[in-house]
Amino acid sequence: MCETLTNGLVRLQNRRAMNADTQEELLDRARAAANHAYAPYSEFPVGAAALAADGSVHIGCNVENASYGLTICAERAAVSAAISAGHRQIVAVAVSAPKVSHTTPCGACRQFLNEFKPAKIDMAIILDDREAGEVVWLDDLLPRAFGPQALPTPPIEANTSLPTRRDKNDR
Ligand code: THU
Repeated sequence: MCETLTNGLVRLQNRRAMNADTQEELLDRARAAANHAYAPYSEFPVGAAALAADGSVHIGCNVENASYGLTICAERAAVSAAISAGHRQIVAVAVSAPKVSHTTPCGACRQFLNEFKPAKIDMAIILDDREAGEVVWLDDLLPRAFGPQALPTPPIEANTSLPTRRDKNDR
């Protein structure tokens, strides 16, 4: 059961096999973003590129702080850029750390990514293996996740692609 989508991905049940060109572009963008990392404390630059459901790509890098705990990881920066541009469904994220191959998203980022996984579709995570990329899946990295739909009253905006406005009467 296989369906080609407008953004170049192929849907396989709840997982979308990455089109090779799309995967290459995401990985290239993540690698380039790592050049902008602000990582003077860890000296561990990371770049990420998030693919939104409409095919747009949004990048981020890690941004550290003298108050170490305020550090923002590359994945969260990339997804925040997507959200800021009005995209709330993220179908794939590439991650690249020049110093260590196959770097995976940290636990906090896995939870953050899960918030913007489209309903019923898994999110592809492309690791930088220094070749064409290794695809792993968020559901495997974060099994039995706690997400918006787990709340008794899910937020009305969860997993929608377009910004919505709460009506006064909904409050
Ligand atoms: N980091 C990321 O940006 N993404 C990851 O997937 C792993 C860790 C950052 C956080 C910190 O700035 C540095 O890498 C070392 O942990």
